[in-house]
Amino acid sequence: MSPSEFSRRRFLAVSASSLALVACGEDSDSPSPVERPATPPENVPDVPEPTPVATHPPRGAHVSFTVDAHTSRSLTWFSDGDQAPVSFLEYDTVEEGMDDEAISATPLRHRIESRVEATTGVAALTHRATASDLPADKPFRYRVGSELGGWSPVRVVEPLPVKDWSFIHYGDQGTGPLAKLVTDEVLKTPSDLVLIAGDLSYADGTQSVWDVWFDQQEALLSTRPMLAAAGNHEEKDFGGDAFKNRFTHPGKPATSIITGDNPGSTFYSFDVNRVHFLVTTAGALINDGTLPEEMLNIEADLSLAAVRRAAGEIDFIVVMQHFPIWTDQDGRSPANPALVALEENIIVRYGVDMLLVGHDHIYQRSAPMSFGLRNPLGYVQVMVGTGGASVRLFDANGPQAWSASEFVGIGFARYRVSPGRIAVEFIGAPPLGLSDEERGQSTGEFKVEDRFEVTSRDAMACRACVQAPRNRLELAALLSDYTQTMRDRPARYIHSHG
Ligand SMILES: [Fe+2]
Ligand SMILES: [Fe+2]
Repeated sequence: MSPSEFSRRRFLAVSASSLALVACGEDSDSPSPVERPATPPENVPDVPEPTPVATHPPRGAHVSFTVDAHTSRSLTWFSDGDQAPVSFLEYDTVEEGMDDEAISATPLRHRIESRVEATTGVAALTHRATASDLPADKPFRYRVGSELGGWSPVRVVEPLPVKDWSFIHYGDQGTGPLAKLVTDEVLKTPSDLVLIAGDLSYADGTQSVWDVWFDQQEALLSTRPMLAAAGNHEEKDFGGDAFKNRFTHPGKPATSIITGDNPGSTFYSFDVNRVHFLVTTAGALINDGTLPEEMLNIEADLSLAAVRRAAGEIDFIVVMQHFPIWTDQDGRSPANPALVALEENIIVRYGVDMLLVGHDHIYQRSAPMSFGLRNPLGYVQVMVGTGGASVRLFDANGPQAWSASEFVGIGFARYRVSPGRIAVEFIGAPPLGLSDEERGQSTGEFKVEDRFEVTSRDAMACRACVQAPRNRLELAALLSDYTQTMRDRPARYIHSHG
């Protein structure tokens, strides 16, 4: 039995007895009273009171934001068993002069009851709570849980700077030794936000894998906001339902044609300072039936973003998704033909500046490009499927004309954003060697393996990207192109989607 399975069973056993107390009318929010004599009998030494056992300790706490990047923080966490005491996010700010002791011990003045739903595929509960209207300039300190069930430690999330700021991007992580090397290095590397481009835990339907993944990630993801895209391994995990359940993202884009509740959404957009981000599924969850709706939303969202950029409100439009459009990974080059036909012309039409992806377990960065050729008015694709799931190789044909940098190994990209400029570094560590066995190991000596910069488009280029969003019929025309493309595809387009 794995340690996580053991602990899950233990907590389940404990929770059964605590639930009996709740059912008998105990206040679930306060510990059960302990009977003892008013005066201790003489000659009996003082025995310290036992620390109450936490019946439902929160696990896997991770922070994101669903509303404003500066003034809201969302917490998501899990408790074992199919019932739990009423649980809370308690929070406050860190004030000038507070030391670690004061940060932990000073009472938290605000609390929000968590919204609870069953965790997909396992006897556990997913808790979510969002604190909003926070002061943008002060660190956020918080804990999650309950008196009876147990509390997380008090943790701190630094405020997101309003001018110069940074984020880190990678995908394809899993729970093996390479993944741990990447997480440890990310933890050592300052950033204000983490973006994970899909294939997060590789649970593939086995929910105990998520417990291991969240345990490994907790030091990072409980202190740094993280937002994720769904990958094909999220599709293998209850068709994407586990992903929707275990993460809390912003709602659908503001331009969404569908309104209503959307926890753990799979496509969404948000702004951080002068950068607009759109996260898409790129068809990773194609069986959930939302792709047509998503495509209309992508059109509307990017169209509006291009108008805002031309008006000087933002500098950059960045899209994150799991699947790359173009690649030189062995077995998958030169491109994903479905994305070339359906998505790339949307990205080029509205002048997306950068496309952040994973899926292929290599690092490869393009020059500004479109449709497989270098184009100064195109987008930069940054493929960082190097989160540690495995290390793959490039094909034997050599890099395509658009490719500007290639690396075999593990690592992550760090983006330092200032007005009008994004300076990017890929920080990587090579495997021990290129054989199948050696690629599974690394000494974890990370260094900067690529460096580049993206600057904002000039006014004329921005105006050229102001286009009306296409409607359902116009998108259907893209689909007919897609049919044609697939029928006429050259043999070199055939690739696997593993
Ligand atoms: Fe992957
Ligand atoms: Fe993948």
